[in-house]
This record gives sequence, C-alpha cells and structure tokens, in this order.
Amino acid sequence: MIASRSSALLLFGATGDLARRMLLPSLFGLHEDGLLNPGLRIVGTARSTLDDAGFREMARAALSEFLPAERRDDSKLEGFLERLSYQPLDASSLDGFPALADKVGDTSGGLAIFLSTAPFLFEPTIKGLAASGLAHEGVRIGLEKPLGNDLASSRLINDAVAAAFPEERIFRIDHYLGKETVQNLLALRFANAMFEPLWNSAGIDHFQITVSETVGLEGRKGFYEDTGALRDMVQNHMLQLLALTAMEPPADYDATSIRDEKVKVLRALRAVKPGEMVRGQYAAGAVGGKTVGGFAEDLGEASDAETFVALKAHVENWRWQGVPFYLRTGKRLAERRSEIVVQFKCVPHNIFAERGGKLIANRLVIRLQPEEYVRLQLMAKEPGLDRNGIVLREVPLDLSLTAAFAKARRRIAYERLLLDLIEGEQTLFVRRDEVEAQWRWVDAIREAWAEAAGEVKAYAAGTWGPNAAIALTERDGRSWND
Ligand code: BG6
Repeated sequence: MIASRSSALLLFGATGDLARRMLLPSLFGLHEDGLLNPGLRIVGTARSTLDDAGFREMARAALSEFLPAERRDDSKLEGFLERLSYQPLDASSLDGFPALADKVGDTSGGLAIFLSTAPFLFEPTIKGLAASGLAHEGVRIGLEKPLGNDLASSRLINDAVAAAFPEERIFRIDHYLGKETVQNLLALRFANAMFEPLWNSAGIDHFQITVSETVGLEGRKGFYEDTGALRDMVQNHMLQLLALTAMEPPADYDATSIRDEKVKVLRALRAVKPGEMVRGQYAAGAVGGKTVGGFAEDLGEASDAETFVALKAHVENWRWQGVPFYLRTGKRLAERRSEIVVQFKCVPHNIFAERGGKLIANRLVIRLQPEEYVRLQLMAKEPGLDRNGIVLREVPLDLSLTAAFAKARRRIAYERLLLDLIEGEQTLFVRRDEVEAQWRWVDAIREAWAEAAGEVKAYAAGTWGPNAAIALTERDGRSWND
C-alpha cells in the first residue's frame, strides 16, 4: 500500500561519495521520467560550506561523471538542478538545525529524509531533527548502512532513531533489495508453479550464494579495515538474499507479510561451526590481465581484516533440514558476479545406468549481475542410434532477462528505493527485527573467529579465494559453480 507522497526530500551526506555516485544520478533518472512530484524540493546538507549554486554545480559535475551517457537528457538537467538547494550543517551539534529547518521550509506536505552519514552522527542528527520540528508524523527517514558494527551498536542506533520515529516511518536501506533481479527472485519463486513443490529438502541438495567482486579497496581504507567482508557484505546483502531464497511463501506482497517471512528465516539460522567458515585476504595477483597488489599494500600496512569470507549456513526448520547454504563473497576475485545457485537432488533411480547413461542433477542458476538471467541445467540425450550406449548430456535452458525485457529501462537500485521512500512504501526496506537477527548470527561468527577459527588465509588476487573455501564444498562432495 502506498502511503502519502512527500513534498520535500532532505539528503544528509549530500556531498559524499554515495550521493555523487548513486543518489543524485538516481534522483535525476526519476526526474527525467516524470516520476517525481513536480513540486518536490531536494535539500542537500553536509559539513561543506556551499551555497545553493555551489551544490548545483557539484550535482552537475557528479551527473556528468556518473550518469551513463544514454541516460543524460540535457534538456531535463536544468529543471532537475532547480529542485536542489543546500544548507551546510555540523550535525554533531544542535546549533545548526533550526537554520536547516528554515531551509527545508513547509513540510506539511510530507518530508522524506535520507541519512547517509557516518554512524557516530546518527544519534545527534536524530536529536537535531526532533528538536527542530523535522520528525513529525509526516516525516519518514531512510537510513543507509553501516547501522552499527555489531548487535549492541546497532541497537543503540536503532534506539536513538526509535526515540523520534516509529518503525512505520523508518526505512533501513539494503541496496540489494532495490535490484530488479533480486525482486525477480520473488517472481520466479511465487509466480511460477514449477519450482515451489521442489523447493525443500526433498528436492534440493544445497544452495550457493556468491557475490564476488574484482575491485579492491577503492579508497575506503579506514572503513574497510574496521569492517571486513563479513560485516560489509554478509551481514546485510547476502543474508537478505538467503532470506528471500529460503522464506515461506508470504500471503501478500506487502511490507508486513514479506518481512515476517524473512525474519523467521534469519532467526532460524544455526550458529556456524568452526569448520564451516573461511576467512581470506587477497595477496598480489592479476585481475582481468592486470597485475594488482595485495590488501596490505593497498592499505599501506599489515591488517588482519578479511576481504573474503565463505560460510556453510544452515536454516534450522522443517523445510531446510540438512540443506546447506554455501555463501561466499570477496574483493579481488576472478570475476564480478552475484548469483544464487540451486542444486537440485538427482532423480531417485537412473533407468539409463545399464546402458551407460550418467546423470547430473539439475541446477538452477539465478544470475543477478552483471548479466541477468535464469539458467536451468537439464539432462538430454545426445542424438544418435545409441549402439554403444546412451549418452546423456547437460544442456542449458536459458532465459535472458536482459533480452526478454530489452525495451525496459534498467534502473539503479537507488531509483527504486528513493521513490519508495518518497512514497512511503516499506516492503523493500529492512525491519529492525531482521537487522538484529542478522547481527546476532554474524556476531557469533566473529566471536568464534576471536576465539580460534579466525585465521586469515591468503589468496592470490584474481582467483576464487583461499583453497580452504574450495575445500568447504569439496569436503561435502560438492563444488562451487565457477
Ligand atoms: C556495498 C559494500 O554495500 O556493496 C561494498 O559496502 C560493495 O563494499 C557493494 O562493493 C557492492 O554492491 P554492488 O551493487 O556493486 O554489488
């Protein structure tokens, strides 16, 4: 259900990296397609001393740098920039908030706030908003990660936000939920009759969820060293993918039904055992034919932060008894790829065995990026007269979503999320109980690392991670879909 639209959007962290790379290009995309209210004003705020004109210039430069050429409709640019204004603010003190509230002006038509700031600024910002009248019933707030770095710190942040905003007006962002292909996972599972009857421990042997990147540190030294791959990627994006993959069919496509089902899965995650986790860190190697240095070189010092993690997760409920979910993610891996692999079980009896026919169990690959496709590996008989036996081969049944929907505009995940925030649609945002269940599971892994199991194993950049990650599946007689 779409609640009321907002008539203004207030962006904290408006001069930051996320704003320049993603938020401003996304807002422009929405403006270009006439999806923003004609009257919607966008007020940016950050520490930098800029005026309206300076902010507009910054936005213009960001769009020319980060907006793909085919999306750059110059005739719409001036109209977009006119929506923008700016107010400098030191959010760590209450002093500047009244001036900010003046700049935002009349919010009786609804206000959407997007907070993309350092975590230590969350609490003072919320206090400042409340004190300056910017937390009333018509205001909703979007929160960008990181929301804390463990359960305790995330609770503090959530409590601070809850002091001024009820849960129905809090929009926690996980940008993976804004991705078209991630939403398509729900369509694949719940708009088709053929998968759901097999989607359980009788039909499925295991799942693999891979989010691999070829990039390294990308200048995020301090943040990444303190965070590591487990908290940067698994705690949020990968667990959301797991929850959508494993959840029961919700009764409706709405915020309560979907999030109720996801949280049940997240709470059912069993604590990972020491032999089920691998930490890695990239060493020098070659990615895409180019030599690259190791993590310590990129960082300028030795560190034991992990840039790779592989885990064997278990959802302890009836449906998924004995079905492992292998997760892996890392920087400087062999290729950029996000995918969910569903490995079905083999048929119960091979009628071709006597004639030499060997069977490979069906595998469904849901590729989320960079390509968008669904591929089902099926067995077929090789054509021939079979005098020397029957030869069975695996053949793909391919559905390219890019080709099937060639005319549809591909959107940045934040376009969807910003529009939902502006319109008050919460389904694709993460509820507090989900975040806390995610942290609980991740904190237990970090505790195990601190005790014993946390040795960081080196892997050469451009590979699929440390050997131990390969052993994680091989030991079970399975293999990663490389
Ligand atoms: C972010 C992480 O949340 O997701 C980054 O902080 C990571 O480290 C990024 O690179 C990956 O997002 P995407 O959309 O490029 O897969």
